[in-house]
Amino acid sequence: MSTIARQALLSIETLLPNVSATQCLAAEVAAQAQRGDVIALSGDLGSGKTTFARYFLSARGVEGEVPSPTFTLVQTYSVKPAAIWHFDLYRISTRDDALELGIEEAFADGISLIEWPDRLEDLLPSHRLDVDLSFVDSDEDARKAHLSGNDTWRKRLEAAGLGTLDRDRAKL
Ligand SMILES: Nc1ncnc2c1ncn2[C@@H]1O[C@H](COP(=O)(O)OP(=O)(O)OP(=O)(O)O)[C@@H](O)[C@H]1O
Ligand SMILES: [Mg+2]
Repeated sequence: MSTIARQALLSIETLLPNVSATQCLAAEVAAQAQRGDVIALSGDLGSGKTTFARYFLSARGVEGEVPSPTFTLVQTYSVKPAAIWHFDLYRISTRDDALELGIEEAFADGISLIEWPDRLEDLLPSHRLDVDLSFVDSDEDARKAHLSGNDTWRKRLEAAGLGTLDRDRAKL
């Protein structure tokens, strides 16, 4: 990969000192999301993937209770302008199980939020935004988030002011 291409990729690491900071980040990403987008939510059990998804959905106008798709594997929300599909793939056995859940329709027509995206193997689109959440030692309310993606995501998030995320978060 050339130096120019590497510089064009998105890579932001930020501290989320509390759930409110996670809410802000999810809302900021939600404001940039468009039909066909895939947002891959990674991180250990309890790191905050569903919490991020709930705030994302709320920011896109989903009202009421948002159940975790732990057992249903997918929950869909018919909001305008694009339906949102929230997957939790922890329990699928093979990538083909995701096809039965309708993941191709989600990729084509909706916005996809995917917990445990590694289960998709080669089905995971390269144009996705990766959001990796991790625990912070000695602070149970804090998480670290690493956002990475292609040039399109970098431009969108920079336009939204997220290029200065680290500096802004430090004020929280
Ligand atoms: N800064 C933070 N951001 C997100 N969640 C936080 C934060 N601090 C504490 N939490 C808490 O951590 C928990 C995260 O649970 P959540 O269900 O979102 O995790 P998950 O990654 O989806 O887990 P699983 O792998 O089991 O699906 C929630 O109880 C949430 O309130
Ligand atoms: Mg979860």
